[in-house]
Amino acid sequence: MKDWQKETVYQIYPRSFQDSNGDGIGDINGIISRLDYLQKLGIGLIWLTPMYRSPGNDNGYDIADYYQIDPVFGTMDDFEELLAEAHKRDIKIIMDMVLNHTSDKNHWFQEALKSKDNPYHDFYIWRDPVDGHEPNNWVSKFSGSAWKYVPSLNQYYLHLYDVTMPDLNWRNEKLRDKIFQMLKYWANKGIDGFRLDVINNISKDKNLPNDTFKTPLDDGRNFYTNGPHVHEYIHEMYEKIFGPNHFVTVGELSSTPISEAVKYTNPKRQELSMAFTFHHVKVDYTGGNKWTLGHYKLTDLTKILSDWQVKMNRQGGWNALFWNNHDQPRAISRFTDDGKYRDQSAKLLAMVEFGLQGTPYIYQGDEIAMKNAYFTDINQYQDHESINAYNELINRGVDKRLAIEILQQKSRENSRLPMQWNDSKYYGFTTGQPWLKPEHHDDYSVEKVLKMKNNVFNFYRALIFLRKNKVLLTDGAYRQLNPEDNCVYSYERYDDKGKILVMANFTNENQTRKLENGFDLLLGNYEGIKVSDGTVTLRPYESIMLKNK
Ligand code: GLC
Ligand code: CA
Repeated sequence: MKDWQKETVYQIYPRSFQDSNGDGIGDINGIISRLDYLQKLGIGLIWLTPMYRSPGNDNGYDIADYYQIDPVFGTMDDFEELLAEAHKRDIKIIMDMVLNHTSDKNHWFQEALKSKDNPYHDFYIWRDPVDGHEPNNWVSKFSGSAWKYVPSLNQYYLHLYDVTMPDLNWRNEKLRDKIFQMLKYWANKGIDGFRLDVINNISKDKNLPNDTFKTPLDDGRNFYTNGPHVHEYIHEMYEKIFGPNHFVTVGELSSTPISEAVKYTNPKRQELSMAFTFHHVKVDYTGGNKWTLGHYKLTDLTKILSDWQVKMNRQGGWNALFWNNHDQPRAISRFTDDGKYRDQSAKLLAMVEFGLQGTPYIYQGDEIAMKNAYFTDINQYQDHESINAYNELINRGVDKRLAIEILQQKSRENSRLPMQWNDSKYYGFTTGQPWLKPEHHDDYSVEKVLKMKNNVFNFYRALIFLRKNKVLLTDGAYRQLNPEDNCVYSYERYDDKGKILVMANFTNENQTRKLENGFDLLLGNYEGIKVSDGTVTLRPYESIMLKNK
């Protein structure tokens, strides 16, 4: 068993974590000042979202210089100090690496724009106009066409994301060499791994064919998701960088079937350590469309989770487990109750996640039950994806109020609110004006939560401890119980010697279910447990983890 299979990863979105100099933007010194807090939580690894030099059109996922830390976050010295301080506390550092695209401000793209014969031109994906139009009908993940016309070259470049983020051409060997060189630079600094941004999109179908638009998912992605050479490219990175440096690597793999996720993560193939996939957090996309008011059925959610558990395990793959990240609204607001049962809900989600097989991730703020931002005005948003989606909704004739409501539920900006450290105006995140302002004052903060009895933070600590110490939680096989149950999610982890049972009531009513004899309570989100005559009664959003004697 590898360490990272029983450790927990904590994701930091630096911009929103801790500001140290009052400019309203979180930074490296801020992170350093919170390492003791993270050590207390018990996590083993930190994933840092990008801090390279960037114009910030996509909060750092648009990299202008892979070799520099953006001054907004600090200096390279600060970064090295962070690395050393984390290592002192036995915490590993995983850097986010964006290899599908760069910023248009990147030197490579600036050169590429100069002429078709510039050596950097072919680092990106260019096509001549077809009948005066875009080369194909692919849609950008940030809305609109995936192509942008450059008059001086009379060519279009491909951008699967923001228009300021041109896609790199991985077919070009010189580009690949440049990338490997750069990855080595970071490896030599002594980091411990990479989170690879949208890595399954780097290999496009050579012919860039039109997609069918039979469903919202036939928008081009059929021709670049898990494309023809992606596994070769990743294996090459493994051989040159990940393997020799004993890296922990996690691939962001959107729209990926289990069979492919297995290929990426089965150790025999020497590609990635684990797969970060999204099927479970798309369960409330109506007809595949994210920008709708979503509802979900528990059985749909648990079916997806169970499928991934069983099939990844059977075929030697490894899951990253998560509810939240910087691209998702808060799960507590979405799948449970962030009001009356806020505390129970946060713990229930944590328990369901930590009981599954894979490596659990905590996104900053999960451990204090942070919830959605619920912005009421489009001007409060800064995220391009959200703003574009809003404009598209309005153009389609959707009522403003409904569009706002959809964003309140689905926008990723919901999870980018500054971390709530204490009860002061901006929660001790900054002494200045935060880059993203909360709409309401929320009464949950680290300081407050830590004072509560049986608090969420300590619940996470307990789960992290269990993961480190119960082999069943890492290695045990998975089996869902009562897959038709639309209120209570129950599953067990087992081997020939024992069993761990997890039951989670996703409703705000009591639910009574059968329970075999012979179990001890490992952890629960209420005090005690209500068992009688072979049944257990789960209170609203109650979740329990039991172990057979
Ligand atoms: C990933 C990142 C997201 C970013 C996108 C483009 O999905 O997590 O934040 O916008 O890639 O780089
Ligand atoms: Ca700052």
